[in-house]
Amino acid sequence: MTIAALTFCGCSPGTSGPGAAAPVPTEDTGERIYSGNCLPCHQQNGQGIPNVYPSLAGSPVVLGDPQELALWVIRSRRPATLPAGRYPSAMPPFGWLKAEDAAALLTYVRANFGNAAPPVDAATVARALGE
Ligand code: HEC
Repeated sequence: MTIAALTFCGCSPGTSGPGAAAPVPTEDTGERIYSGNCLPCHQQNGQGIPNVYPSLAGSPVVLGDPQELALWVIRSRRPATLPAGRYPSAMPPFGWLKAEDAAALLTYVRANFGNAAPPVDAATVARALGE
């Protein structure tokens, strides 16, 4: 059993072989999604651009209720801690994010840029979305 489980690693190409990481690289997934989708506006360091895109560092939305955070990012449902009209443009909804990927992404933004909020799991995201 153990041998079979090890053989069926499920690792992405380039990460297999002795000493490879566990097959669920949550941290990497979150970082990859951030870099591909959020970075152009919120920047590499999460600080955004003053008066154009808000900083995610110390943001009450990022650090607050994980379900409100998920609803904002995925459905653009505005939390009370994010008053409308402070920024000149709108953030697009990321409705295509699967609960698992969203959880990895939200965990990433809550644990980087100087933030230190607890991780978010897929079940929490799914509950927020009513799935
Ligand atoms: C096209 C630019 C753009 C992209 C891409 C973008 N955002 Fe935003 N984001 C914004 C803007 C603009 C606001 C402020 C919106 C408002 O107040 O109406 C915002 C607000 C936020 C907030 C609330 C911050 C606060 O002030 O407390 C969070 C959290 C957030 N974005 C996360 C993300 C995540 C995660 C991604 C990637 C999946 C992302 N954003 C992608 C432009 C963007």
